[in-house]
Amino acid sequence: MALRITVIGTGYLGATHAAAMAELGFEVLGLDVVAEKVETLSAGRVPFYEPGLEELLRRHVAGVAGSTGRLRFTTSWEEVGTFGDVHFVCVNTPQKQGEYACDMSYVDRAVDSLAPHLTRPALVVGKSTVPVGSAERLARRLTELAPAGEAAELAWNPEFLREGFAIEDTLRPDRIVVGVRSERAEELLREVYAKPIAEGSPFVVTDFPTAELVKTAANSFLATKISFINAMAEVCETAGGDVVKLAEALGHDDRIGRKFLRAGIGFGGGCLPKDIRAFMARAGELGADQALTFLREVDSINMRRRSHMVDLARETVGGAFLGQRVAVLGATFKPDSDDVRDSPALNVAGQIHLQGGQVTVYDPKGMENARRVFPTLGYAESALDAVRGADVVLHLTEWREFRELDPQVLGEAVARRRVLDGRNTLDPVLWRKAGWSFRALGRPTA
Ligand code: UDX
Repeated sequence: MALRITVIGTGYLGATHAAAMAELGFEVLGLDVVAEKVETLSAGRVPFYEPGLEELLRRHVAGVAGSTGRLRFTTSWEEVGTFGDVHFVCVNTPQKQGEYACDMSYVDRAVDSLAPHLTRPALVVGKSTVPVGSAERLARRLTELAPAGEAAELAWNPEFLREGFAIEDTLRPDRIVVGVRSERAEELLREVYAKPIAEGSPFVVTDFPTAELVKTAANSFLATKISFINAMAEVCETAGGDVVKLAEALGHDDRIGRKFLRAGIGFGGGCLPKDIRAFMARAGELGADQALTFLREVDSINMRRRSHMVDLARETVGGAFLGQRVAVLGATFKPDSDDVRDSPALNVAGQIHLQGGQVTVYDPKGMENARRVFPTLGYAESALDAVRGADVVLHLTEWREFRELDPQVLGEAVARRRVLDGRNTLDPVLWRKAGWSFRALGRPTA
C-alpha cells in the first residue's frame, strides 16, 4: 500500500510540503494546532503569498471541486498518529526574544504531542532548522513516549526551500539530505522522494549531526557571500569603484559563481539572520565559538547596510529628516513574497520615521503585513501614490514592478527628483536621463 504522510505545522514550510507531497501522489494529512489555519487550508486558501501554492493546494485538497482529494487538514493529534506512516515535523524555530539562540519549544511540543499516538511503526522526520544535537535528543524522547517504542523512529531531513520558489524547490530540490539511523528509515525516505531522485536530485545519506549542520552551514555560507559583496560595496564607495561590475567580473570565476553577489541593503527574512545567530549560540554551547566568530562580522556588516542607507537618505535630504517626505518602494524582505520578517526595507523605513521623516511605503504584496508590524508608517496604494510630493525616493525591495517604473512619469509626481537604489536593480542611465539625481550603494555617484 502507498505510504501515508502527515505534515505537522502548516505554516510556510508545512503548507508547501503538504501540497507537494500530495502532488507526488501520496495521501496527506496536515496538522495545525491553530483551528483557523486548518479551516482556511481546508477551504483551499493559502493564508500567505507564495506563487503557485494556492493552485497546487486546490488541485489536491479534499472538498474542492475537481481535486484529487488526497490532501486533508486536521487539529487532531490522534488522527495524525493513526493515519501516518511518515510524519514530517515542519514547525518553526524562531529566534528567542533578546537572545541569539532559537526557540525549540514548537518542535519539542510537536514530538511530545505526536509520540503518545504512535502505536505502530512510524518514521518521524524533522524538517525544521534546529541547533545541532537536537535530533539525538528528540530521538530519545520519541522512543520514551511512543507506545510503539523503538519502532517509532526519527530521521532528519532539512529543508532548503526559498520563499518565492517554494514549490519548485520542494518538488525539484538541488539535493535531498537525510540523517538516518537505520536502513528502514533510509528506504522510507527514498520511497517518499522517489520522483525527485529519479529526476536527478542527489540523495545524500548521513548521520544526525551532519544533516542538521548542512542546513545551518548552507545558510551561513549564503549570508557570508552577501556580506562579502556588501563589504566590497563599502570599499567601492570610498575608492570610487562599481560593485555591480565587480560582482559581475567575480561571478565569471566558476569557483565563486554569480549567485548571491547582489550588493544592497543586505539580507533579512525569517531564516538567514536568525540561523546564523542560532548557529553562533550553539557553537558557543559546544565550546566551538572561535570557529564561528566570522559570522559575527557577517551579521554586523549586514546590519550596517541598513544604517548606511538611512545615513545616505538623511544626507540626500540635507542633513535632517524633519519635515522631509520620504517615499519607500518595498516592504518585504525580498520580492515575490509578502513576508516582512526582519525586512531590511521596513527596518530602514522605520528608522527614518523614528528620526522624524514623513515616510510613505508601497509594496506589491507586503502591505497588509507591513501595516500590522509598523502601523504608524504612511502607506500608499501604488508606487505613484507613494512618491507624490516626495523629497527623496528609496528603492528597497527589488520587485520587477519597480524596475519597470517610468522615471519620467514618477518625476512629475515628486517634489525633488532624488532616488536612492538600495538593491542595485534600477537602471541609472534611464533615471539620470529623466533628470533624477541617482545614487546606488557601492556605485559611482555619476
Ligand atoms: C533562505 C535560503 O536561501 C534557503 O535555502 C533557506 O531554506 C531559507 O533561507 P529565503 O529566506 O527565502 O531563503 O531567501 P533568499 O532568497 O535566500 O534571500 C535572503 C535575503 O538575502 C533576502 O533579504 C535577499 O534580498 C537577500 N539577498 C539575496 C541579497 O541581499 N543579495 C543576494 O545576492 C541574494
